[in-house]
Amino acid sequence: MRERHDDEQTQGRGTARRKRHAAGSPDKRVVDGDSQPEDTRDNARKIRPQRFADYIGQTRLKRKLEVFVKAARQRREPLDHTLLHGPPGLGKTTMAHILANELEVQIHVTSGPAIEHKGVLAGHLTALQERDVLFIDEIHRLTPTVEESLYSAMEDGRIDIPVGEGTRARTMNFDLAPFTLIGATTRTALLSGPLRDRFQILEGIEFYNDDELAAIVRRTANILEFPVSEAGSREIGRRSRGTPRIAIRLTRRVRDFAQVAGQTTIEADDASRALDDLGIDREGLDAVDRRLLTMIFKQFSGGPVGIDALAASLGEPRDTLEGVYEPFLLQRGFLLRTHRGRMGTEKAARHLGVKMPRRGRRANIGGADEQGELDL
Ligand SMILES: Nc1ncnc2c1ncn2[C@@H]1O[C@H](COP(=O)(O)OP(=O)(O)OP(=O)(O)O)[C@@H](O)[C@H]1O
Ligand SMILES: [Mg+2]
Repeated sequence: MRERHDDEQTQGRGTARRKRHAAGSPDKRVVDGDSQPEDTRDNARKIRPQRFADYIGQTRLKRKLEVFVKAARQRREPLDHTLLHGPPGLGKTTMAHILANELEVQIHVTSGPAIEHKGVLAGHLTALQERDVLFIDEIHRLTPTVEESLYSAMEDGRIDIPVGEGTRARTMNFDLAPFTLIGATTRTALLSGPLRDRFQILEGIEFYNDDELAAIVRRTANILEFPVSEAGSREIGRRSRGTPRIAIRLTRRVRDFAQVAGQTTIEADDASRALDDLGIDREGLDAVDRRLLTMIFKQFSGGPVGIDALAASLGEPRDTLEGVYEPFLLQRGFLLRTHRGRMGTEKAARHLGVKMPRRGRRANIGGADEQGELDL
């Protein structure tokens, strides 16, 4: 019991730290993919899908995982170690819980920063019953020594535990019950090769399309018992940055506007007006996104601009830029990542109503080829 309590506290600290980090300012963005306190209140539990059947979208991923779960259950074996990666708010934690539910096993939840030393890890591992799931969120933040102990646990089902102190200190070797490790990370690039290689199932969660987001909005509205019209759900979904967490948050906010205006259903016009008031434009970009793109055009002539220079000018940590703001802008073609730096695209210039600088226009032509995983 105690251990669980410790863990929850540490986890809470980790999340709070990450949230501050991601927000970069005391004013939270409404379209930030990171979790906010409200999401963990009242019907949040009902809103979080519990089974594959409630998990909207990610059809290919779901199909594969359903097979892996079924096969593991037939063999009465644990599911292979699974790594889920993708930007914040796309459903990694949700999927980890669904996997445990579908496997009909217990899930033990912790996070990279919460596992401060080997002893904490050993505590989690030895508490696992046969076929249980150990979920480690933010797994890229494990310390190297903890990570190393995890290797033998994952590979050989054993762990060395330091016991005693001073001259009587020694290590004891424990056999673990067969278990599944599910790791989640927003940043696979930050995961060490040896750790990545020890997962047999590696799956990315991608941004959701407009139909899927509209379905998430309708599902949320149903749970909140505040109906939304088909067109209303599409309007909210379209502006949700491809992210379920944002779709849910915007549905709540638009509901507030509709409720105060004395409506009983969310219609497209109400949604549109409310989202305009919230500063979220037709493409789902908010003030921070627009500031970032405008800065590239106005201060850096459309780019290429190095990530560090951009982060410094925006006053945001580089990590936040890369993990929170950029993925969506890249995916929707507002931003280009080239080996010489970030560039604003024609689409972004058009959307912002700024003139596309000549240099940017030329470089954009071959831009697609240059887009890669290079970190600049
Ligand atoms: N496929 C989905 N269908 C319906 N709701 C979803 C889906 N995926 C996520 N959600 C909802 O979106 C919210 C965020 O999901 P979740 O917490 O799993 O994201 P995450 O990827 O773990 O984010 P982070 O990287 O910040 O930890 C949850 O409230 C969940 O209910
Ligand atoms: Mg999560």
